[in-house]
This record gives sequence, structure tokens and C-alpha cells, in this order.
Amino acid sequence: MTDAAEELEPPPRPTTNAWEGALDAAIDNARAYVAGLPGRPVSAQATVDELRRALALPLTDEGVDPAKVVHDLAAGAEPGLVATGSPRYFGFVIGGALPAALAADWLTAAWDQNAGLYVGGPSAAVVEEVAGRWVLDLLGLPPSASFGFVTGGQMANFTALAAARHAVLARQGWDVEARGLSGAPPVRVITSDLRHATVDRALRYLGLGTDATVVIPAGPDARLPVGGLADALADRSAGPIPTIVCAQAGEVNGGSVDPLAEVCEIAHAAGAWVHVDGAFGLWAAASPTLRSTLAGVEQADSWATDFHKWLNVPYDSGFVACADPEAHRGAIGVRAAYLVRADDDHGTARDQLDWTPEFSRRARGFAVYAALRSLGRRGVADLVDGCCARARQFADRLGQMDRADVLNDVVLDQVLVRFRAAPGSGSADAAADDDVTRRVVEAVQASGECWMSGTTWRGRAAMRISVVNWQTTEADVDRSVAAVERALASV
Ligand SMILES: Cc1ncc(COP(=O)(O)O)c(C=O)c1O
Repeated sequence: MTDAAEELEPPPRPTTNAWEGALDAAIDNARAYVAGLPGRPVSAQATVDELRRALALPLTDEGVDPAKVVHDLAAGAEPGLVATGSPRYFGFVIGGALPAALAADWLTAAWDQNAGLYVGGPSAAVVEEVAGRWVLDLLGLPPSASFGFVTGGQMANFTALAAARHAVLARQGWDVEARGLSGAPPVRVITSDLRHATVDRALRYLGLGTDATVVIPAGPDARLPVGGLADALADRSAGPIPTIVCAQAGEVNGGSVDPLAEVCEIAHAAGAWVHVDGAFGLWAAASPTLRSTLAGVEQADSWATDFHKWLNVPYDSGFVACADPEAHRGAIGVRAAYLVRADDDHGTARDQLDWTPEFSRRARGFAVYAALRSLGRRGVADLVDGCCARARQFADRLGQMDRADVLNDVVLDQVLVRFRAAPGSGSADAAADDDVTRRVVEAVQASGECWMSGTTWRGRAAMRISVVNWQTTEADVDRSVAAVERALASV
């Protein structure tokens, strides 16, 4: 063998001990972390400079022992972790991780299947097939709907709107996948001013552009007004217009749900496609007590939701479903000579890349399957009901506080609250209340007791509280309300 060939020798494989060292380091640190979640400060405890000092190590020529790498990574990252899995984390809409889901997620990494094709991991394909059907059933969606396991709500909205674009243009005789959008009939998207930002982003990705939207101001109840929608749909002055209506179940600030039955009825009568963005709110359909809030949801044409929010599956995990599998597959599926397709022989197995925009991807269905099996139907309903009860507890307690006003009708898990300047402080206008509200949010975040984020609601500053963690108890809410009280007294 020449010297050059010797230099190309592959590095030695990790020995059993090397696997064990690294995996032991991971499991020890992970166990300590999840066990400590209820007690640790919720906010990150290190500055960006401290984190850079701890983590910006030199990249050595020779590499470092795997167990030491994992240990050092855990030690360096630990102070900069936000305890988003804490039962007192109420920021954005961020769930924790159920034990079965977290454990299955570890296995997912160990198995490292490429979940694009059936042949790349038959178990991954079958688990997604099973879990996807469970989800359709739990959420009351048509059992014949197609579905895909995507990274989150953003890609679920993108995939669903790609299917919608395909279908509404096909009805005009236009094959958008082949011909693109140049010269295509313009597509109109009707939605409310409270749609999530990822809807607009999906429209950008799809080349429809945000100017394609006809935006209807939401009513005082923060829902898409049916009358306004009917008026917008009635505008057919330029002939039949390919139209997509984007409704939502669970507005990201206050959790409102659009009147889905009416929206579907009048949109379908006008030949439009109805998409429902239900990133978290769709889970209310899994609760017998809340299901009526989403009445009519099954009549829509496509749905987007997340597992990493209310189902408490680790990131990144979302779900898209489509009532018209041909539109879904027509917009998203892919073929190539070298792809060994499960359905080439008219087989029944499922190639996941027909339903998700990714090609190679993580087998994220394992964790969803584990989460659903561990909870069961009643467990999912209890999770949703429990979070909504905690949200109402927040609203009741905060609503009783001097200088605090709850701004929304708490229909699901979201609470919006605004604080007022102290009487006699000399500043008693809306701008002063905005300032107080923002300072309360900052003080609560800095306290480490709990974490809520801020927002602007109808032009005014507000605190958002989102309860989607499986571990949050009434005592956690009491403790968090006390932290808010202290913060308000301090500003
Ligand atoms: C209503 C709604 N749609 C879409 C999204 C985006 O979801 P993701 O962050 O999973 O992409 C969110 C996120 O909070 C949301 O609340």
C-alpha cells in the first residue's frame, strides 16, 4: 500500500465503549435536565458572550473523544437553555415533551431511518400510516384524507396551500406544476387580518405573493366575519376566480376559532378551496367538551396542525392533511428513475415523499405514535381540557387583580392580559399602559419563575399566556400569577 493510500484509511470505528461513553453522557445529562425542569429557572441564565466563551472552542485537527464532546456540549449549553419544557413556560405556543415521545425520539435518532421512501425504512412508513390515521380520527377529519408528517405548522400550511393552488388552477384547466404561474389565471386568497404570518410566508414560497390576499378585518370576537367573507366571494366581476379561503382554528394571540361550518358552506358554494390553519387549535377537536368550538372543521379541504405544540412531541413535528389526495400528491409528489417506489407494483405501502415537501427526512412519526399511544383518546382529551382549564384559571386570577385587564374571550388555551399604570403615577393614558405592560412582561421573564411573551393586540401592548404543557398544574398557575403580581408591583 502506498503512503497516499494509507493516508486515506478510514478513521477507526467507535468501539462499543465509545458508543456507550457518548450515549451514557447523553442519557445522564438528559435525565438530569428533564427531572430538573419543574425546579429550574425558566429563562436562560447566560449572556450571549458567556455562551460564546463556553462553546466557541477551537476545532482541533485530531478530534475529541465522543463522550467528552457530549459532556462538554451539555455543560456549555446548559446555562443558555430556556426551559421551554417547564410547566411554567407559557411563551409563544410551545409544548413540552411527553416521556414516551421523548424516548421514541431518541430511538428515532439511533435508528436514523430516511423516512422519504418505504424502502428506506418500512417501519417508519407503517408507523406514520398508523399514526396519521389515528390523528385524522382524533381530530374528526375525513378518514379518506391524505396526510404528511412535516416539520411544523409553516410547512403544513405550505403543503396544504400547494395542494390548494394545484386544485383551484386545475379547475381552470391550468397545470401549475408543469406550466408554473406565468400566464396562469390569478389566484385569490381570502383570509382575515388575524391569520398567522406563516400563511403569508407560504404564499410567498408558492409564488402566489402576499398581494394575492383579500384581507377581511376580523370581527370584535377576533373571528373571520361570515358576512365579509360572503361579500368578498361575491366579487366575480372578472369571471370565475380561482379562490382559496384561509380560515384558522386557534388564533396565535387569543386562540379564537373562525366559524368553520359557515366558512366552508359559503366558500364551497362559491367554488373556493378552504384551508384551516389549526397549528394548535385543531387539537380542541380531540376533546368531547370542546369539539363543538370547531364544528364543521371536517368540511374543509385541507388542514395544518402541529404535534410539537399541544401534543407535546419534541421539535420538529407537524401534520398536513388534505381531503383531495390527488391534489396533495399532484402538488408535492416526486418521481426519479433511481427511486425504488413502494407503489410501482401497485403495492399498498406508502412512500412518504409523496405527501411532504422534503425528500430525505427524519422519521418523525415514531415520536407521534408513541405520544398518542401513551395518552390514549382520553389522555389527549384530558391534556387539552386541562390546559384550557389552567388558561381560564389564569384569566380568572389575573382578571381579579387591580390594574390588569383580560382582553380575550378565553375559548381555548390562550390568555391576553394588559396592565395599567398605577393611579397617581401621573401617567394615565394608553401609551403609559403599553409601557407598564411591556415592563411587566420583561420583569416576569427576568424573574425566572415563569415565562410569558409580549405582543401587540389591536394596536396595544399585551402579555400572551399560552398553556400547552402536559405538566402544568393549578399550583404552577398560582405560582405564576404571584410572579406577575410581584412584577406589576415593581414597575
Ligand atoms: C396559528 C398558527 N399557525 C402556524 C404556526 C406556525 O407553526 P410552526 O411554528 O410549527 O411552523 C403557528 C405557530 O405558533 C400558529 O400559532
